[in-house]
Amino acid sequence: MKHTGQDIIKELQDRREQARLGGGTTRIDRQHAAGKLTARERIDVLLDPGSFEEIDMFVVHRTRDFGMDGNTIAGDGVITGSGRINGRLTYVFSQDFTVFGGSLSAAHASKIVKVLKLAIQNGAPVIGLNDSGGARIQEGVDSLGGYADVFLQNALASGVVPQISVIMGPCAGGAVYSPAMTDFTFMVRGSSYMFVTGPDVVKTVTSEEVTAEQLGGAETHTTISSVADGAFDNDLEALAEIRRLVGFLPSHNAAGLPHLACDDNPARTTPALDSLIPENTNMPYDMRELVTSLADHGDFFELQEDFAKNILTGFVRLNGSPVGVVANQPMVLAGCLDIDSSRKAARFVRFCDAFNISILTLVDVPGFMPGTAQEYGGIIKHGAKLLFAYAEATVPKVTLITRKAYGGAYDVMSSKHLRGDANYAWPTAEIAVMGAKGAVEILYRSELGDAEKIAARTADYETRFANPFIAAERGFVDDVIIPQNSRFRIIQAFEKLRGKRQQNPAKKFGNIPL
Ligand code: HXC
Repeated sequence: MKHTGQDIIKELQDRREQARLGGGTTRIDRQHAAGKLTARERIDVLLDPGSFEEIDMFVVHRTRDFGMDGNTIAGDGVITGSGRINGRLTYVFSQDFTVFGGSLSAAHASKIVKVLKLAIQNGAPVIGLNDSGGARIQEGVDSLGGYADVFLQNALASGVVPQISVIMGPCAGGAVYSPAMTDFTFMVRGSSYMFVTGPDVVKTVTSEEVTAEQLGGAETHTTISSVADGAFDNDLEALAEIRRLVGFLPSHNAAGLPHLACDDNPARTTPALDSLIPENTNMPYDMRELVTSLADHGDFFELQEDFAKNILTGFVRLNGSPVGVVANQPMVLAGCLDIDSSRKAARFVRFCDAFNISILTLVDVPGFMPGTAQEYGGIIKHGAKLLFAYAEATVPKVTLITRKAYGGAYDVMSSKHLRGDANYAWPTAEIAVMGAKGAVEILYRSELGDAEKIAARTADYETRFANPFIAAERGFVDDVIIPQNSRFRIIQAFEKLRGKRQQNPAKKFGNIPL
């Protein structure tokens, strides 16, 4: 029978309508009842209105086994395409839990691979909205191969375009490894899980009884494992925050940064900073206050906020330009560097360096954390990650020492010696091998019984070393600045560094201590 033009268009519309229904209204209702948006609704919230262009809407799986012959649903459980976030091109895939539980077939994988390849080729971020039961059980090895195809593209895209994963439902087995290979992973509290094997398998193998939430919920992954960089209360909040994050990132590794017109005065002073450091140098203060007072409009997109709280990492804008911030947090463990904080900050520094995002380092660090737990856990190797990351980073690096910069940690925290471009200190800075008490106890061990002598020795050490001027005399800090002027001085430093060119020796890549 010959089709008329009208018939053909009607058929197309019907097919599209069918595809948009995914696994059908009952399963969509179930998704909503679980407090989750559907895969399509998520895309609509994530992207600028009307900007989404879908590809591969009609792709179906090719499995014949286990009753799958003829049991196809257009799109095969993942919606893929591109759109815009604040006008900027972004690639996206969104797994549809209503279609075979969002499980990954060979066809489903090939759709994700296509999007990743397009993102690499066209230089745009890619965002994965994950909601999947893992490998499509009916497909066997085809599904495993599909996962590996996705993993390969994740590795190839790494360092070329920003990759962001949002976990918005269960993610089991293979479904967790693609997110783990991306730059940032976020979860939704109460409705998302990530585990290699679920509670039932855990019970069989290790006899541990654990709920899905305890094993791989948002709290677990943001506070214990650090697999996730952040968690949000619901789908809407998560997607809005991802839009905010994308605003700080370049589209690809050779693109300029998304600069915004800034109406927050770059020369704004903050007199409160002059008294931020307590009189007693062992008293904590909140480094977050400094970060937000420096940032345009106080806006700080913090990453891994609930993990290794002794160091802060995240993005701010300074006079409209995105900058990555790494800051010791004296409120937690006195801000000292340990395994977790070193790993956390090292990965962040490397992300910034890979995508040409300048790094601001705020230093108040009494040293590395001592103890058997740290030594047995490999603090030497993990601390070296941060040292390595800072040393090889060629992006503009501005450092401000607010108080302590002791020992090896002084070297690590973007010191002049690691090619810090502009290194400032507040007058309250203490740059030394260690604190006065520890130093005196080692240097004058024989006098330890004489409290008066020790007090005099300590005072002498403090006068000589507990200040920024010895470092300044050597040019290890470029200037000692008045705290309230910090925003202006830092912005000015970064602006002068706009044309920075620095290259490491030619190599395939460095061997960071993993
Ligand atoms: C095919 C699947 C599926 C899968 C779920 N479904 N997972 N279909 N393959 N892996 C289907 C279900 O049959 C069901 O279909 C629908 O999705 C919803 O699933 P429910 O179980 O009803 O939902 P819920 O109770 O919310 O539980 C979700 C779940 C659970 C926790 C994800 O379905 C589950 O445990 N699935 C299996 C997880 C798993 O073991 N995956 C393989 C991991 S191994 P209907 O038609 O009823 O709607 C792996 C290896 C890869 O991934 C390694 C690569 C490195």
